[in-house]
Amino acid sequence: MNIILMGLPGAGKGTQASEIVKKFPIPHISTGDMFRKAIKDETDLGKEAKSYMDRGELVPDEVTVGIVKDRISEDDAKKGFLLDGFPRTIEQAKALSEIMQELDRTIDAVINIEVPEEELMNRLTGRRICEKCGTTYHLVFNPPKVDGICDIDGGKLYQREDDNPETVANRLNVNVKQSKPILEYYDNENVLKNIDGSKDIKEVTSDVIEILENLK
Ligand code: AP5
Ligand code: MG
Repeated sequence: MNIILMGLPGAGKGTQASEIVKKFPIPHISTGDMFRKAIKDETDLGKEAKSYMDRGELVPDEVTVGIVKDRISEDDAKKGFLLDGFPRTIEQAKALSEIMQELDRTIDAVINIEVPEEELMNRLTGRRICEKCGTTYHLVFNPPKVDGICDIDGGKLYQREDDNPETVANRLNVNVKQSKPILEYYDNENVLKNIDGSKDIKEVTSDVIEILENLK
């Protein structure tokens, strides 16, 4: 099962991906998470990505396509993958099609989580993440039991550096512009599935799972 999760920043891609991989044994591949790890590890890739991410701009296609190509060629992704946050430009979408052709594989579904843009600022500025396990919370929509502490492992919760109102506004602008042609591209390929991401988290999860179960 080769799946792409799409949606504007804050639509719930990461939140839904962690539920999907509990049910389907495929790796969750998030380009954003890969870049954040590279920044933490202070690699050359991290240094390059940071300058773009801090401004809410996209990391150049040639860098991003390269890391995705390597990742989906790894052994654990041979039986399928869940891409989150890639492709994010039409050039990335076309490059992915070429990679899939080389690997003799196809994309089975592109799940687009739709949320009205005006809700996304609140979602992103209220997001908090566990520093130990990466579980995502929201101060209002999905709060931890104890303020500032992860329910699962007691880790401290932190705020992502790009979740400040200024950077969020730019991320939204950039992504709104880029996503339209990608959605059209996958609609033409008959793999696009739009879902209502403004419902509560559990309802969105069951809608996504229903789609994926019907693909099998
Ligand atoms: P990335 O990490 O992918 O960020 P993003 O696309 O901006 O998306 P987010 O992770 O912010 O949102 P999400 O949809 O995962 O929402 P979440 O589930 O956390 O990318 C970061 C940066 O890396 C980019 O800006 C770019 O610079 C670079 N980059 C990454 N990929 C790239 C690429 N392909 N090309 C070039 N550059 C790239 O949920 C958000 C909040 O809402 C949480 O608090 C959650 O609890 C809450 N929430 C979730 N669902 C609901 C719901 N249904 N109801 C209420 N609250 C909800
Ligand atoms: Mg995410």
